[in-house]
Amino acid sequence: MRVAPSVIAADFTHYQEEIVKIVDAGIDLLHLDVMDGVFVPNITFGPMIVEAINTLTSIELDAHLMIVRPENYVEQFIDAGTDWLSFHAEATDQTDAIIERIHTRGAKAGLALNPGTPFNFVQKYIEKLDYLLIMTVNPGFYGQKFMSEVLPKIKKAREFIELRSLNCLIEVDGGINVSNVELVKEAGADMVVAGAGVFKADDYRKAISQLQCSTH
Ligand code: DX5
Ligand code: ZN
Repeated sequence: MRVAPSVIAADFTHYQEEIVKIVDAGIDLLHLDVMDGVFVPNITFGPMIVEAINTLTSIELDAHLMIVRPENYVEQFIDAGTDWLSFHAEATDQTDAIIERIHTRGAKAGLALNPGTPFNFVQKYIEKLDYLLIMTVNPGFYGQKFMSEVLPKIKKAREFIELRSLNCLIEVDGGINVSNVELVKEAGADMVVAGAGVFKADDYRKAISQLQCSTH
């Protein structure tokens, strides 16, 4: 299981140390939650901070855009150093064009889905995507409770991908920790995001390896 810790849950007063420490703890990707205060009721950061984070580490950056009109920012985020770029299916009517622009710029394209959005809403895009980001909390804040009612949607996406032998990975995001990662893995996830589950642990290395080594 690949693990992408979200810097939203790090100590902002020691950002550089936190990033170096989490990367050294053996992560697979670094997850960057971009929030605009419109698509979600919280604001985080934009491409300038992504660019700064990119100078601190060579780990691949996985930016999750929780913003309206993501079509206005695709190139800026990739030029800032984003390797994996996801945007919300609910936030735009230009999904095909955005996927194409992400690929043209050389990044991996992901489509994110809120807990309430059915898989059917995005299935026509799966063959074009590098990954599907399935939310298991309503986006906006870290440290929320994992919504187990989303598990059937993860299973459905996994079945769809397997039946057609597609390359789309499944990333699951929201409330993930050592007590529920097995369920997520069993449902078909390839990657998990973890905010509080990693950054609020005493031992980052241990928390990450526990998530990576889930047994299923
Ligand atoms: C939620 C974000 C998540 C989240 C992860 O809006 O997209 O990436 O902050 O944090 P935890 O794992 O604490 O839910
Ligand atoms: Zn996220």
